[in-house]
Amino acid sequence: MRADVIAIVPAAGSGERFGHDINKAFFEILGKPVLIWALEIFQRSSLISEIIPVFSTVDMERGLEMIEKYSLSKVKKIAPGGEERQFSVLNALNLIDNSSSIVLIHDAARPVIDEALIKRCLDMLGKNDGVVCGVPPKDTIKETEGGIVKRTLNRKYITSVQTPQVFRFKTLSNAFSKIKGEKIEFTDDAAVVEHSGGSIVVAEGSYRNIKITTPDDAIIAESFIKELEDK
Ligand code: CTP
Ligand code: MG
Repeated sequence: MRADVIAIVPAAGSGERFGHDINKAFFEILGKPVLIWALEIFQRSSLISEIIPVFSTVDMERGLEMIEKYSLSKVKKIAPGGEERQFSVLNALNLIDNSSSIVLIHDAARPVIDEALIKRCLDMLGKNDGVVCGVPPKDTIKETEGGIVKRTLNRKYITSVQTPQVFRFKTLSNAFSKIKGEKIEFTDDAAVVEHSGGSIVVAEGSYRNIKITTPDDAIIAESFIKELEDK
């Protein structure tokens, strides 16, 4: 039997690049906030036993209302947001008592996930220290500095990394202990584990699993969600 899988869903950013008055996680697509599309998948998934959303102080009340409105009964605890994404995740980790659980971290800003993607990530953990999902980048990626091209990276060795990302609670928690007090900004959770020498493997992500970052992403996500809803 698999250990308990707890989904941590950080939603405590401010969505600066999205540029609306509200945090993009609460922006509505087809009448539902972005984060609810993802939370409902976890609520329905037989692979997930508990969900811990992370809300900032300004969004806490709105967040609690949503949890109730959409009957998300797997939400038993809510973590307070941190200054950086990594601290939001750490605040959620600190609420977990069962040290033998597995954590699956998923950005609230990625509303187009499905059960198959969750399963692919969980299935690959095995003896590894972590799993990220990712896709090959479609563009050519160049390293630049001040608008000048330094070099062209070989696409063969580049992966565009998404969430979900999966770890054993103990591995992630130990990796976070090691970076305590360090001033490095980690843009994903695997980077925290990599920093302490952990081995991370890549599961097949999905081009549909986009992160809502700028307003045009919301238009694309809406068409993907519509297609799923029409099925
Ligand atoms: N996030 C978080 N706590 C933070 C920063 C980000 O929980 N201190 C969450 C966001 O709410 C989002 C996810 O992490 O669901 C991915 O981050 P990102 O796309 O960068 O979102 P924002 O930080 O909100 O956006 P921006 O960087 O444009 O301000
Ligand atoms: Mg951000």
